[in-house]
Amino acid sequence: MYEFIPDNPYILLTPGPLSTSKGVRNALLRDWCTWDADYNEEIVQNIRRRLVAIATDRTDEYTVVLMQGSGSFSVEATLGSAVPRDGKILLITNGAYGKRMVQIAKVLQINYIEYALPEIEAPDPERVATLLAENPDITHVALVHCETTTGMLNPLEEIAYVVKSRGKVLIVDAMSSFGGIPIDVNGLGIDFLISSSNKCIQGGPGFGFVVSRREELQKCEGNARSLCLDLYDQWKEMDASGKWRYTSPTHIVRAFYQALDEMETEGGVAARYERYRKNQRLLVEGMAALGFQALLPEELQSPIITSFLYPEANFDFNAFYRQAKAQGFVLYPGKISQANTFRIGNIGEVYPENIRQLVAVVKNIREKNAEVAG
Ligand SMILES: Cc1ncc(COP(=O)(O)O)c(C=O)c1O
Repeated sequence: MYEFIPDNPYILLTPGPLSTSKGVRNALLRDWCTWDADYNEEIVQNIRRRLVAIATDRTDEYTVVLMQGSGSFSVEATLGSAVPRDGKILLITNGAYGKRMVQIAKVLQINYIEYALPEIEAPDPERVATLLAENPDITHVALVHCETTTGMLNPLEEIAYVVKSRGKVLIVDAMSSFGGIPIDVNGLGIDFLISSSNKCIQGGPGFGFVVSRREELQKCEGNARSLCLDLYDQWKEMDASGKWRYTSPTHIVRAFYQALDEMETEGGVAARYERYRKNQRLLVEGMAALGFQALLPEELQSPIITSFLYPEANFDFNAFYRQAKAQGFVLYPGKISQANTFRIGNIGEVYPENIRQLVAVVKNIREKNAEVAG
């Protein structure tokens, strides 16, 4: 499976867009008409069925809506379509993507309350239970699964249990985890799960998708605060004909189909999860040996992306970034307020061998810089 990417100048160790296989990139190289079965049925509907099958074995109860734009467009479409005018949503936030849901709620004038936590703290399911008890008018709850801001894996199972046992609608932003971490969507009672084409399925950027419980999606008619980001209307048209309401990102959709094929060949979500976990373990061990400490304790850490503390107060991340990029690896700046950090992702067409190469590159950079300084 592993193939070093000679036609790319670097590997993206970022949470998306991420490095894709040559097969996925090759799939972009032809045009498609959008009014024929060879695209609508054989590609669009096929993708929708396969995404449902990845999410759940209760395939009759769920459907998938594809939506143009980056992942945030699908989050906005879901919040704006699922929460009715007289509804109220509890937004659980411990990072930038939770905060983005708050921004969306503000702009769309959705009634919300926020359970806000510091970026390095996991939400407490008991606190969620208390908030639901204190605010009986809450109808929906939304949570980010892997908070890509830090790399924290939030306690989805425990929170899902609290939310569903109280009869609320559960929305999960699983942007950076779906396809890379097993999630039993029906088992957890998730009503809407959002992800996008350029994360763990390993396609290119251009559209998002929402795994939706049919019964809940049905209730979204007329709720949307936006014409384009209307999840219900998009579903109705797509379900009937495989057509997207407005221009479909055909090449990226076809490349995503290829990415799904490659995912199946690799062994599905279970195999991908194993690879990502191995990548992440090698990364943390290798970086620790070079003096880079992970921000989060192991029990809160996802296998998707890792935040590292600056190894010394005067660490020059920009210079380090440039040196790593020149040697084939693109890293990611930090995004939290409490500490100086940078991030390294390990999803995408990235294999343990690449992580070992990265660690060797970092070692080399550190030695060279120490020589210059000393
Ligand atoms: C958890 C999470 N939610 C939302 C987003 C936003 O997605 P996009 O940047 O594609 O709009 C991201 C992006 O990385 C993410 O990781």
